[in-house]
Amino acid sequence: MRNKVIAGNWKMNNDLNGTVNLISELKKGVNDQTKATVIVCPPFTSLETAQTLLKDSLIKFGAQNMYFEESGAFTGEISPSMLKSVGCEYVILGHSERRTIFGETDQIINKKIKTAIKHNLKPIFCIGETLEEREKGITFEVCERQVRFGLEGLTEAELSTMIIAYEPVWAIGTGKTATNEQAQEVHAFIRKLVAKLLSENFAQNLVIQYGGSVKPENAKELLAQPDIDGALVGGACLKADSFLKIIDAA
Ligand code: 13P
Repeated sequence: MRNKVIAGNWKMNNDLNGTVNLISELKKGVNDQTKATVIVCPPFTSLETAQTLLKDSLIKFGAQNMYFEESGAFTGEISPSMLKSVGCEYVILGHSERRTIFGETDQIINKKIKTAIKHNLKPIFCIGETLEEREKGITFEVCERQVRFGLEGLTEAELSTMIIAYEPVWAIGTGKTATNEQAQEVHAFIRKLVAKLLSENFAQNLVIQYGGSVKPENAKELLAQPDIDGALVGGACLKADSFLKIIDAA
């Protein structure tokens, strides 16, 4: 049985004040009755504060990105050991906004996944097709390429902490959610592909989250699909009330 994992990707939102407010509200709603694993991913500048605030909480936290080098002349970048030093457990890698706005390729993302794992950071590896790719009928092809390249050179044991997040780009921040059937179809495809690349046992234990306009109104049905094991939430995670409703739905 795979446990549901609900993660909030804050993106470029919340200064320190906003971080204190949002985490304080979330802490009131997440307790030992909460069945899902809950993760928040604030911006870099809030991670140390998150660590302090979440010390005695069940809520876990991670970063939204990371560079693949250990240290050196990489102006503006953050290394895996920097993330470890503020207590990060997870790191989102390969988000479509990183791919499209910041030009991250499958090869760069593969290097990042390798480095994260080497430093005991759990990758939340994002994949997903654009609207153009869906309309061309190449959704599976695109997802397969992203998964194959992303996981290249990594063993089952190394990938044991990885989560995959399927986020159709056309559903991100648009209010347009994939239908339950559309999401389930791709999730099942990813699980089959991973079984082929690694093993059936690994694939059965792999957590595959859905992301793209998840909100309290659609969370329950999406999360009831057999291959949807959680959600990576953007907009709706910025308000404690709606994020907690999604956690409840899980
Ligand atoms: P929205 O929930 O705002 O569509 O964002 C999804 C996302 O990109 C999470 O990583």
